[in-house]
Amino acid sequence: MTGAGAKPSDQASSFLARVPIFASLDEEDLHRLLAIAGERTYRKGSTIFFENDPGEALYVILAGRVKVYKLAADGREKILAILGPGEYFGEMSLLDGLPRSASTEAMETTRLLMIQRQEFLSLLSAHPSLALKVIAELSRRLRQANAQVEELAFLDVRGRVARGLLALVAAHGSPHPAGQRIDLRLTHKELASYCGAARETVTRVLLELQDSGAIEVDGHRIVVVDRAALEELAR
Ligand code: CMP
Repeated sequence: MTGAGAKPSDQASSFLARVPIFASLDEEDLHRLLAIAGERTYRKGSTIFFENDPGEALYVILAGRVKVYKLAADGREKILAILGPGEYFGEMSLLDGLPRSASTEAMETTRLLMIQRQEFLSLLSAHPSLALKVIAELSRRLRQANAQVEELAFLDVRGRVARGLLALVAAHGSPHPAGQRIDLRLTHKELASYCGAARETVTRVLLELQDSGAIEVDGHRIVVVDRAALEELAR
């Protein structure tokens, strides 16, 4: 971590105005928020906080990617979500007063804006529109978590990998001449942890998907070429 608690840059100010949950704040509120917010940069692989830590702040991603994950006692990891610029995390323990529900780690150099608990709670009380946006985002994440439970319960491993690739392309995809590219450098281990499968199995399924022309690999990034084929597997 570098620049611990530094004052937010001008870049952060203009960015914050475009972050969906803060869109309803007027200029005065945004300035007030930025005056008390801190900005921190985390290097790839560094931990932002661990599951069960006390919840002290909300984090907004200015740049980079953050992995939200759980660890089993034997060291196995399950990635719950991969979040990118404009998204936020750490709201759950601020809202319910319980410890952090998951761990978080920077997957690349990541700049975060930190908003302390009391300030976040005051903002929610003062701005019902902001509170409604947070509730809508919690609902969206619950839907995604339900979809993950469904995958783990009902889909075979090819279906889970297909569903995982479709979710990643929806959240982190960009147009590519062959289809849609997932703009994340993911190792097979990370993809396995995201899809809830063993690393060796994911490697095998990715090769099968490449052979059938459903995906291509461009450098270290996966390109979804035949979306319909993945949707069929994920059904
Ligand atoms: P908190 O419990 O304070 O700390 C971990 C954070 O990870 C949590 O708040 C949420 O912001 C985020 N988080 C937990 N579970 C999920 C999930 N299933 N999808 C997306 N984000 C999550």
